[in-house]
Amino acid sequence: MKPKPAFLILFSAFCILQFAFSSASAQVTNDSPRRRLLMDFGWKFHLGNEWGFAERLDKAGQSTGPASAKFNDSAWRPVNLPHDWAVELPFDQTADLNHGFKPVGPRFDSNNVGWYRRVFPLPAEDRDKRLWLEMDGAFRDTRVFLNGYLIGHHEGGYDSYRYDITDVANCGGSNVLAIRVDASEFEGWFYEGAGIYRHVWLVETGPLAIAPDGTFVYSQFHNNVPVGPATIQIETQIRNTQVKSVAAALQCRILDPDGREVAKSDQPATFEPLSLKTVLQNTHVAAPVLWSLDKPRLCKLVTTVTSGGVVLDRTETEFGIRTVAFDANKGFLLNGAPCVVKGTCNHQDHAGVGAALPDALQYFRVALLKDMGCNAIRTSHNPPTPELLDACDHLGMLVMDENRLLGSDSRNLGRLERLVRRDRNHPSVFVWSLANEETVQRTAPAGRIVATMDRMVRQLDPTRLCTAAMNSWSAGAPDGITLGVDVQGFNYFRAGNMDGFHSNNPAMPAIGTEEASSFYTRGIYQSTPHYRTAYDTNATYGATAEQWWNYYLARPWAGGAFVWTGFDYRGEPTPFRWPNINSQFGIIDTCGFPKDVYYYYQSWWSDKTVLHLMPHWNWPGKEGQDIDVRCFGNCDEVELLLNGESLGRKPMPKNSHLQWTVKYAPGTLLARGYNGGRQVAHEQVETTGAAAAVRLSAASPNLRADGEDLAIVTVRIIDSQGRPVPVADNLVHFELAGPGAIIGVGNGDPISHEPDVFLPGTGSDAADKPSAPAWQRHVFNGLAQVIVQSSQKPGAIRLAARADGLEPATLEITAQPCTPRPAVP
Ligand code: GAL
Repeated sequence: MKPKPAFLILFSAFCILQFAFSSASAQVTNDSPRRRLLMDFGWKFHLGNEWGFAERLDKAGQSTGPASAKFNDSAWRPVNLPHDWAVELPFDQTADLNHGFKPVGPRFDSNNVGWYRRVFPLPAEDRDKRLWLEMDGAFRDTRVFLNGYLIGHHEGGYDSYRYDITDVANCGGSNVLAIRVDASEFEGWFYEGAGIYRHVWLVETGPLAIAPDGTFVYSQFHNNVPVGPATIQIETQIRNTQVKSVAAALQCRILDPDGREVAKSDQPATFEPLSLKTVLQNTHVAAPVLWSLDKPRLCKLVTTVTSGGVVLDRTETEFGIRTVAFDANKGFLLNGAPCVVKGTCNHQDHAGVGAALPDALQYFRVALLKDMGCNAIRTSHNPPTPELLDACDHLGMLVMDENRLLGSDSRNLGRLERLVRRDRNHPSVFVWSLANEETVQRTAPAGRIVATMDRMVRQLDPTRLCTAAMNSWSAGAPDGITLGVDVQGFNYFRAGNMDGFHSNNPAMPAIGTEEASSFYTRGIYQSTPHYRTAYDTNATYGATAEQWWNYYLARPWAGGAFVWTGFDYRGEPTPFRWPNINSQFGIIDTCGFPKDVYYYYQSWWSDKTVLHLMPHWNWPGKEGQDIDVRCFGNCDEVELLLNGESLGRKPMPKNSHLQWTVKYAPGTLLARGYNGGRQVAHEQVETTGAAAAVRLSAASPNLRADGEDLAIVTVRIIDSQGRPVPVADNLVHFELAGPGAIIGVGNGDPISHEPDVFLPGTGSDAADKPSAPAWQRHVFNGLAQVIVQSSQKPGAIRLAARADGLEPATLEITAQPCTPRPAVP
């Protein structure tokens, strides 16, 4: 028996809520001049470097090619953001293995530069405002031009940045934004995508306003244990861009999770001409409602700046009242109580869309992990997109927020500072990670660099500690990075002597930053040259789930650990090479289909009753031969029956699994789970008939007609009795009618070279329908995924699926009227 898929319920509930609540970053209310407008829609895109940098160094405002307002982009392709052009390219055996054999990066010059253009109006009233362009992140090197002016050159594929565009904006007329994105350099050793793969925003404020990321709100308790009243500390940075000083009042209101005002603080302040000033305030909440993993209740800080009765600015900032701490003997503490980290490391990468995850996919993925009992995500090995943190705040998931590169030079410190300022209001973030497996990790300079980084972070954020992920450490006198961080991070218990470290550093807290690196292919039970079995038996330098989890259970001081990885991702096809194009480390495949090991973790990480049986029971030709049957679950005892005949009842060892060797006979293999002698669960695998029909399903029959929401559709092949056929590999064709679009397809097969994206005029039906992409995908071990995105038109969306010789299927999805997020027209 599998527990009810609560993640689907959670996921759909939060899909509805996600935009109703806003992000932890400063938001907008409408009686102030501030507006935050999404800028994701209506772009034109071109892949190619015909125009070079398009910059002119001799004359201002005269940038050339697509950066010029006069450029004609009518032949370019329309795209919406987030967008990743690497996922659209065919696989190429000569390309980089770690980046998933996509022909971008060094040696692929013709695929490395993409241009995005967007024409938009600005109202004449905006003349009195400050205007900011905010990039949540692009891969990798961007040059941003507005109306022919270069407004910024940014290097770095993972950090957010912004430009004040006030001086070059054309208020009362049309504006041309052109962004040249250059993906020729890699930053990581995994698939990184290419293009503007995160959101872009236009932020408008009055001339005196709360500075970008200028609000920091946090709670404090006596002894850092959340008993009694909470002190709320508020830091507000105000920028006055006027040449006169302004006498103003800063009003802070704290709203509890039910929207009731529970504290306030008012403070007058004078803002000097052309100044940036920080105002410190504090207040008390007498009976705070805490943020926790089970009840992720969020409060809101409403900050209003007024002068002479006029509202100059107002922001709303979500935050959570909670405490985090590390103890050298008890591990990590949330709200004063030990909280074993049951974590997963993840890259930002999903089937169909590559690195360009719409927000609904972030919620889907976090909900799926949470349902497994995972309570923490490590954003390996880079700053996350802010919307991932929003999902974690709302769903109750901790985050180890990771920096990309070790460095105390101004560029790296600048990136780190922006990361901390952007993310420090998120209650989900419980620790900062400053580095991962740096080659220099044991050297004295690395120790000094990380100490400088740590000091800066601690100044910006007195509430959290810093760690770094090390795969080599001293078990004797501490050295290298260990000397510069607050919490020792261990990558792989087998990489060194953790016990030695603990006994020689008894006062230093620790955490397992990375574990497992075991691999498994969904639905595979016999290893082949390209697949590894889904039994929990394969690991390289890491360990199986059962090995590492038991190791950490025996060491509460180490605080738990993060599995490498929650989801499969493109690239790093360890231990394989071509034709394998994605990793198999995931507990869940690239689409979000759980592998068997998901239920191992769910058994020992969640409080659900779990009983899971493997393998499937379709083994024609193996009649009478031994099959390795295993059971993950947490019932006291499990009985196994083949075609009604008992094969014995065994006690389930804690944090382990059960195993039988069964002579194969087609039919039904049934497991019964008992607690205290009473049957509480059952699970069966059956020999199915041949593939007979396609079946489509989605977590919810509705989606929001906001141009962003998704229906994440599962494609299953079933037999004539409706049973999923676990070995099916049919090719399925998809057609969509109504106000929506398919944005990607996938199947989790680590050697599939089929396209994830079909552009108009491609695919097998291209000749018949040159303008309509012909979407298709083979199912892999019975499953595939289609990702459908709404437009801003409500109405019925009909997804049809057909496969040769099988009964076709249709799925009706309703795009429901809603108020989309405010967007640039
Ligand atoms: C770790 C590394 C990860 C990934 C993993 C694969 O050493 O931190 O990024 O490469 O190995 O096993």
